[in-house]
Amino acid sequence: MIIEKEKTALSVRNKWWEQSVVYQVYPRSFYDTNHDGIGDLQGIIRKLDYLQELGIDVIWLSPVYASPMDDNGYDISDYQGIADEFGTMEDMEELIAEAKRCNIKIIMDLVVNHTSDEHQWFTASKTDKLHPQRDWYIWQNGKEDKPPNGWQSVFGGSCWEYEPITNQYYMHTFSKKQPDLNWENPRLRQAIYDMIDWWIQKGVAGFRVDAITFIKKSFSTAGDEVDIVKANQHGIDTVLEELSKQSFQKHDLLTVAEAPGVTLDQLPSYIGENGYFSMLFEFDHVDLDLGQDGSWYKPRNWSLFDFKKAISDSQHLFNYQGWGALYLENHDQPRSLNKFIEPAGIGITSAKMLATTYFLLKGTPFIYQGQELGMTNTIFTSVNDFNDLASIEQYDAAMKAGLTEQQALKAIAHRSRDNARTPMQWDQSENGGFSKGTPWLPTNSNFLSINAESRYAPDSLFTYYQQLIQLRKNSEYAEVLTYGRYEEVLASHPDIIAYIRWDGKKAVAVVANFKNKIVELDFPYIWGKVILANYAQPLMNDELQPYECILLELINY
Ligand code: GLC
Ligand code: CA
Repeated sequence: MIIEKEKTALSVRNKWWEQSVVYQVYPRSFYDTNHDGIGDLQGIIRKLDYLQELGIDVIWLSPVYASPMDDNGYDISDYQGIADEFGTMEDMEELIAEAKRCNIKIIMDLVVNHTSDEHQWFTASKTDKLHPQRDWYIWQNGKEDKPPNGWQSVFGGSCWEYEPITNQYYMHTFSKKQPDLNWENPRLRQAIYDMIDWWIQKGVAGFRVDAITFIKKSFSTAGDEVDIVKANQHGIDTVLEELSKQSFQKHDLLTVAEAPGVTLDQLPSYIGENGYFSMLFEFDHVDLDLGQDGSWYKPRNWSLFDFKKAISDSQHLFNYQGWGALYLENHDQPRSLNKFIEPAGIGITSAKMLATTYFLLKGTPFIYQGQELGMTNTIFTSVNDFNDLASIEQYDAAMKAGLTEQQALKAIAHRSRDNARTPMQWDQSENGGFSKGTPWLPTNSNFLSINAESRYAPDSLFTYYQQLIQLRKNSEYAEVLTYGRYEEVLASHPDIIAYIRWDGKKAVAVVANFKNKIVELDFPYIWGKVILANYAQPLMNDELQPYECILLELINY
């Protein structure tokens, strides 16, 4: 124990992003100022005071670049342009400047595994085999009248699309309107680095790097086996190292990689001392309910142990190397309350418990818009209610697999990315105050009770998030909560998640009951002051109430 404890100081690096809280804005659904039903950049500017009140330091802006919006902006047709529906480049510059006045930094989504098929690079590439930009994308001959191999795209179906003009197939990891860039081509790489630099000059403080582990392909036409395109292939290190050296490392940026496929033993090269990124999003703790092949309609049964293990495996590693990106929600995930809490238990108490559990781990916390209000999944009554292309493809796959319409709808509704994309709920007015027009996706019908105005109610969830943020940033516990070691406690308890943060000066413990019942707490250390709790009278009779959570100071740890 003592030897372990001496290592504490090693992981203190004092980077600005280690002491920050990030808030993800999905611009389409945040706030609509011109009432066309779509959120816009002016809408974000208008709500900066709300974000400042919450206390966050950084906005992660989902894509606002020019795009035909096949995948809601993750299909970019011009990296240096803004989509008309979101506003103009002047609006973007205004947002960066206004945010700065509020001490809020902006990080952009950097989508460089693929572009839109409407990007000028691709239109040039597809029309002429001899065009200098032909090799900026991945082209292959078919096998007779079949695609080059059996690879399947992440959204379903072959990842090869036939292009009659030159009689070849191009590759797409995601939708066919998202052709993959060819990172083997040095000119393409340079064009990307230049573009990244251009945004840094504009004043952005970093990037959330989309689907980056897909940029290296291990292409083979040998077999016909049907398999999903694989992430994190051999040789990716060289590519990421160059990307990091040529662009990120020249500046003091926050870079967070969306990096499926990275295993625990690879974490050091990604986010260690000289890693490619500041931090990365792991998936194990949010994708526990996905089927083996990633399908939504064959959900896996999971227990709290799976969740505990997913968290503690990487947290223990962060004691020595790397840094966590702490999150439960984003624009690709259903709402966390519906994933982690049984229906009868969903409410402010359980939402506070979830918040406490992930927010005080070692790393930088991310809040997804509306999470601070306790927004939940929405109700879908037919497949026509889905906007998200992944939901529609998963629905089709479920139908093909023999599910009834009702079964398919139920399964996809539970996982649909649209759950997180319904408009932000600001107040009790029409459309939850998001827009006076018709929202591009209907507002969740629970907006009358769940909305930003309710932050003024006593003991609101919003106030609780404010407290968590202040504890991390401006309290006597800031240091231990940011840099303290993580130790899991009660690892074999089926209902409770508990851990300690310790930095040699202070020790605090987080204890959270994940079940809708009273559980006994047999805690192995002596507790002192209660720092934060979600019940007015915490820890009665050494028991935890349903979904009770508590942050305690420990004595003589
Ligand atoms: C990432 C994004 C997701 C998008 C995909 C393709 O996973 O988070 O929304 O559909 O990449 O760009
Ligand atoms: Ca608008």
